[in-house]
Amino acid sequence: MPEHWYREAVVYCCDVETFQDSNGDGVGDFPGLTSRLDYLARLGITCLWLNPIHPTPNRDDGYDVADFYAVDPRLGTLGDFAELLHEAGNRGIRVIIDLVVNHTSDQHPWFQSARKSPDSPYRDWYLWSDKEPEDRYEGMVFPGEQNETWTYDRTAKAWYYHRFYNFMPDLNTANPEVKDEIKRIAAFWVQLGVAGFRMDAAPFVIEASPQQPKDFTFLTDLRSHLQWRQGDSVILAEANVGADEVGEYFGDAGGSANRLHMLFDFALNARLMLALARGDAEPVIDALRDTPKLPEGAQWATFLRNHDEVDLSKLTAEQRADVFAEFGPEKEMQLYDRGIRRRMAPMLGGDRRRIELAYAMQFSLRGSPVIRYGEELGMGEDLSLTGRDAIRTPMQWSPGANAGFSGGKDLVRPVIEQGEYGYPHVNVVSQQQNPRSLLSWFERMIRTLRQCPEVGLGACSVVDVPMPRHVLAHQADQPDRGAMVFLHNLADEDVTVDLSSLGKYAEYPYELLADKDYPPVDDSLSTISLAGYGYRWIRLRDSHGRHTGGQTTRGGLA
Ligand code: NOJ
Repeated sequence: MPEHWYREAVVYCCDVETFQDSNGDGVGDFPGLTSRLDYLARLGITCLWLNPIHPTPNRDDGYDVADFYAVDPRLGTLGDFAELLHEAGNRGIRVIIDLVVNHTSDQHPWFQSARKSPDSPYRDWYLWSDKEPEDRYEGMVFPGEQNETWTYDRTAKAWYYHRFYNFMPDLNTANPEVKDEIKRIAAFWVQLGVAGFRMDAAPFVIEASPQQPKDFTFLTDLRSHLQWRQGDSVILAEANVGADEVGEYFGDAGGSANRLHMLFDFALNARLMLALARGDAEPVIDALRDTPKLPEGAQWATFLRNHDEVDLSKLTAEQRADVFAEFGPEKEMQLYDRGIRRRMAPMLGGDRRRIELAYAMQFSLRGSPVIRYGEELGMGEDLSLTGRDAIRTPMQWSPGANAGFSGGKDLVRPVIEQGEYGYPHVNVVSQQQNPRSLLSWFERMIRTLRQCPEVGLGACSVVDVPMPRHVLAHQADQPDRGAMVFLHNLADEDVTVDLSSLGKYAEYPYELLADKDYPPVDDSLSTISLAGYGYRWIRLRDSHGRHTGGQTTRGGLA
């Protein structure tokens, strides 16, 4: 089903500037990334999401865009970018890029023109106020780094609105000219060959200001515009919104997804973190049960870590406190009073069993998994860097100088050198040589998932049988593709579970992935053992309707 490629995608998020430097200037670039595509192909990912690639003053890691129609010269030329797209395509990897159109950099020529005169053709592309707005100190997204949402501009002699930093003025997306320009930008990149976009701050894009209603029809319009240009292009949106609103982001009342194709599942992300922190499956079960019914064709994008802080804002104070206590107990690990600026491996105490468990759980839950670069190695964070930079250090390729990231001296960000997460210990070269490494496990796990299309395409449900609180048992079912059951044990305690009620779905059940060698699954599914922090992925039925002789892929250390 090529038109639904995104529903079976495995997405890898990568920041070009910290991935691979090819020319020794200390900044990662397109030729560097292109030279690493074979690595990504071996890992098994099918879609590469690039953090912003445009010219930028780089005060918010590229999310402050100064020209939407060009690439940042530090990363290479437009020709280099086209080569990257071509080479990725050769390996069956689609590339999506960030579409950051809630705001621009204050250095963008539109803003420079707009601030100079009320008669500028771009004046109304931004939001202005002659008087100091009453809500000047409300709605900051980055508390501690940002103290207002309206800033006075001496040149303009007026206040301008910005949800994020004051160097990123918000575009007035209620202006039809701005809407047309956004469509033009997206169409331009699709024309160059990108497969779609990760849409930054989607709720803000459709709500020009908090005083105005959300214009969901713009999403319908944008999608239809894109799909006339390239039928299978997709929009994966960042929208941390409540369950009651989710449906509107995906589609109108027509019943099929005609707006955004995919949304990051922030609600599930926070509950996964809570479940891992408490050793309790209930938060994930709640999240699955609370999931609204999605329109046909809509898809979740699941994730554990991304390039921002772990966002715990939608948890209760008590739940948040539990996650902070387990994963971010020190003040310096926390950010914006709501999040944690760490990577998974250190949060899980470097415990290989828990890292595998966490990712096995994410990848087996409904939706398309998204993974942040370096997580497949178990990279750590550098808390001496400010804010979110802690988790944006260069990729660790080898035990050689600069982790093999660059031959230069002045690196865009320091590599992690010291301690158990330093590149002498955590790097691609050593892990590729070791079939028992975390990287080798990720390769096996991703390839196994790609054999299970029912995870992305099918219905996901919690298995309705009594289970200890620390065990998550869920099922993925797609009538013409097959059915799987997944067991994940969130506690360090062996357990035996009875899944015999699934017998009616099962035809010669067999295991596809597990943390260690278990006795073969018996046909009755009545006695299934699970080690502490163990997991088992069991095929109940395949698309052929019969046992095809699959073999367990042992995931763990044993
Ligand atoms: C969300 C992005 O993920 C974040 O990194 C960025 O700072 C803001 N949007 C502003 O663009």
